[in-house]
Amino acid sequence: MRVYVIIGVSGSGKTTIGTTLANVLGIPFYDADDFHPEANILKMSEGQPLRDADRKPWLMTLNAEMGNWIEGKGGVLACSALKESYRLLLANGHRAIQWIVLEGSYDTIYERMQQRQGHFMPPELLRSQFADFERPNYGWHVEVRHSPQAIVEELVNRIKAFAEPAIGLIGLGVMGKSLARNMLDKGFNVVVYNRDSPGEEDVVSTFVSGWESDEQLSGTTSIAHFMALLPSPRRILCMVPAGGAVDSVLAQIAPWLEAGDVFMDGGNAHYRDTNRREKEWQKKGIRYLGLGVSGGEEGALRGPSLMPGGDYEGYKMVEPVLLAIAARDKVGAPCCSYIGRDGAGHFVKMIHNGIEYAEMQLLAEVYALLRTVLPYPKMVAILEGWQSRSLGGFLLESTITILKHQENGSYVLDDILDKAGSKGTGSWSAQAALELGVPATMLTAAMYARSISSRLTERLRNEHHPRGTPVEHMDIDMVESAFQMARILNHIQGFSVLAAASEAYGWSLNLSEIARVWTNGCIIRSELMEALVEVLQAGSDILANPFWRSKLQETEEALAATIHQALRQRIHLPVHSAGWQYWLGMTTGQSSANMIQAQRDLFGAHRYQKRGGSPNQTFHTKWTSYHGL
Ligand code: 6PG
Repeated sequence: MRVYVIIGVSGSGKTTIGTTLANVLGIPFYDADDFHPEANILKMSEGQPLRDADRKPWLMTLNAEMGNWIEGKGGVLACSALKESYRLLLANGHRAIQWIVLEGSYDTIYERMQQRQGHFMPPELLRSQFADFERPNYGWHVEVRHSPQAIVEELVNRIKAFAEPAIGLIGLGVMGKSLARNMLDKGFNVVVYNRDSPGEEDVVSTFVSGWESDEQLSGTTSIAHFMALLPSPRRILCMVPAGGAVDSVLAQIAPWLEAGDVFMDGGNAHYRDTNRREKEWQKKGIRYLGLGVSGGEEGALRGPSLMPGGDYEGYKMVEPVLLAIAARDKVGAPCCSYIGRDGAGHFVKMIHNGIEYAEMQLLAEVYALLRTVLPYPKMVAILEGWQSRSLGGFLLESTITILKHQENGSYVLDDILDKAGSKGTGSWSAQAALELGVPATMLTAAMYARSISSRLTERLRNEHHPRGTPVEHMDIDMVESAFQMARILNHIQGFSVLAAASEAYGWSLNLSEIARVWTNGCIIRSELMEALVEVLQAGSDILANPFWRSKLQETEEALAATIHQALRQRIHLPVHSAGWQYWLGMTTGQSSANMIQAQRDLFGAHRYQKRGGSPNQTFHTKWTSYHGL
């Protein structure tokens, strides 16, 4: 049987979590403090600190006891075990140990200690525990800010995972490796496959040998072996680059695929490819899922935001795995939710990236503005201020990290060529918005900004001096408000595309739930996203929401003035400008489109509706004396 050893500093909740876990699992709970030899008990009662030599007999007793527990019913042991040397003694010779590491900041734990009656601990003692704690990089790390019930529920899910049949993962690239590690860490058995083409021969063996438990992980470079290692119905996660590679993997595994097997494509596939593949493979009884995965390498390892779409029965078969590996939202719920049928998951991931493109460009534009008046350290201080206010988010945090980063005394950012790349999702988002007739002008402008940046030779050839009016003073508060307004507008546009797609494709997307899935793990996680979860519960028209509308109205002058200042200095600000034009357009009751309709009618007899008239009644005017041939 297995023994779960819960470690952490005093006050992290080892006993509460340990006893609850033991209760739920129906196995005994042990408190390590009950196993101290007499000499230690005496020392402690006299208030003398224990030395490592005192701890040795205690840890050896526990080690021997643990052998009995493993042979018997298993158990849960609460033990501070702050140092690696203690843990080595404790675990010596035992394999069936699962470490559970309770993680929490000093402030969180101190606050909890204060709230617990009869549990006073001087701050210095807690600080010294934090200083002594050598955090292991193995084991299950659990955040203690969630409730003990939520923590125990998560632990029980991980424990159940050991009994699940293995998951197959194809493609050990950066994301594939991280997701495989994440699944292993959550207790799932995993079989990995990677081709052994030139340069990739050792990928599987290196990965497999790097994992401590060989019962849990196996790997192969033979597709036949891979398919044979997976029990039916197979559950396969494919992590190869989007496009033809996915079709070629499917063609390779086709001879072994059986009706009822689940295939998940976790790449950034075009949703139409996913629609097509799902239909094709459904005919053969394969349950196809398009899985949007966001969070990059670190997110994939520690907890990504997951957007599964496609065959619902197939989703239910992989749900325990996806929920276990996903990031957690602020109340501890997994950032993963079934999005809808067909390629809905990949569509939603694509729009996530569209919002990401625009937000990245907005930050690049802020940098373009601020660098005219501020050195990087000052810029960092200002952006850190924004981060601590209502603008906090992963992309702003990343921008700050970049602005701080120096190598050999110079800023790395200054050495990077200003030519932006892209892999597809940005332009697909713009195309989708255009097809659906949704004004997603900001993500489109962000895409064009990357296209313009990549025309470096032309830009340099045509570079125009002087650089406009030099500015001695820039109102930083104004830039902050402008950025705030622009990013709200960007999110409004992104969610409008989702609302339109939901209707056009019959996906019944739950926009508030999608916002919740995006509150953690993904690239566009932010405080704004947290707020949108609630706003979108009330309806998808955020502009009509009185609170947000007045927030936008309050900042409109700042956005206009920021753009004006940038124009005078010849600073390219395409996404702020697109946001401003969108805001103007969407809040103008009487537009100039009557002229467009008249023009269309004049040269094409396209007809027009009349103001106040019925939408079914159209008119044509004889604008000129031309009567046709
Ligand atoms: C994520 C990212 C990730 C990647 C995109 C965009 O959510 O983790 O969006 O998927 O950054 O592929 O990349 P490009 O900027 O190269 O198009």
